[in-house]
Amino acid sequence: MHYKIVNKQSFAGRFKRINIHCPDIATKLQPGQFIKVSLWQGASVSLIVAEIDSLRGVLTVIAQDADPLAQQLGNLPINYVLHAVLGPLGVPVRIEKKGMVVCIATGIGIGRILPIVRALKQVGNKVIGIIGARTKTELLLEVQMRIACNKIIVATEDGSSECRGLATDAFKRIIGEESIQSVFAIGSVDMMEEVSLLTKEKNIDTQVMVDVSMIDCVGLCGACRVRVRNRNVLACIEGPAFNGHQVDFTDLRIRMNAFKERDRWGNLKSSFNPRENALEILTKYPLDIKKN
Ligand code: FES
Repeated sequence: MHYKIVNKQSFAGRFKRINIHCPDIATKLQPGQFIKVSLWQGASVSLIVAEIDSLRGVLTVIAQDADPLAQQLGNLPINYVLHAVLGPLGVPVRIEKKGMVVCIATGIGIGRILPIVRALKQVGNKVIGIIGARTKTELLLEVQMRIACNKIIVATEDGSSECRGLATDAFKRIIGEESIQSVFAIGSVDMMEEVSLLTKEKNIDTQVMVDVSMIDCVGLCGACRVRVRNRNVLACIEGPAFNGHQVDFTDLRIRMNAFKERDRWGNLKSSFNPRENALEILTKYPLDIKKN
């Protein structure tokens, strides 16, 4: 099977939307799952899928320039045949008819939440979308989210949209006004933690999606471990979506900082070596096996 880049488009300054023809994966992939793309031998990157076109066999992924390998993927030409694409990986999110569902996302999380919004609406939920960014120009996929949600609130910190402030400020208002049965939150650790604390008080079912960097994506390297319900779990095997009331966000923050360090390396080093990076991270932040 040849996996080919069939289209790509830059948007919001530092992101690229890349269409990959991979019909065998596109027909099986469900919202919340991800794929691993090998650009060439030894250079792979895990990517969440923003749009699934099972009829044409095309997946749309979002590559951000901050990630060196994703940036290289975005620089490949249209019609480039990729070395390999592995997927679907991870566990799909639970899509059930609940009634009123809020989907809140910031940054690249908006791309991750879009297929979830569509699936939730398809099974009969009323979906309120809340998307946030610093400025309106940094917002991803605003038009697609407007079409997909029953109601949408766009929050920008500089007030360039209809609602000034953080996405969580808009969420606090909505949670006071509406009777919400379920919440999906994808974005920064701070945002997901705040949303989960608010919904815990009201006992609202909440799923969050963690964005830890992944290396092998099949449970062998341990780099993607997160603490959920006081035990270590691998986001590539049991996630990346988890019950927001059970995630240890303090531990998640520490790991995210470790990966920021790795990303700095990736930018500095001309040859990015995933094995070296995994070993470095695991040495600094070892798996706490005793607590399991
Ligand atoms: S990426 Fe999950 S164990 Fe390696």
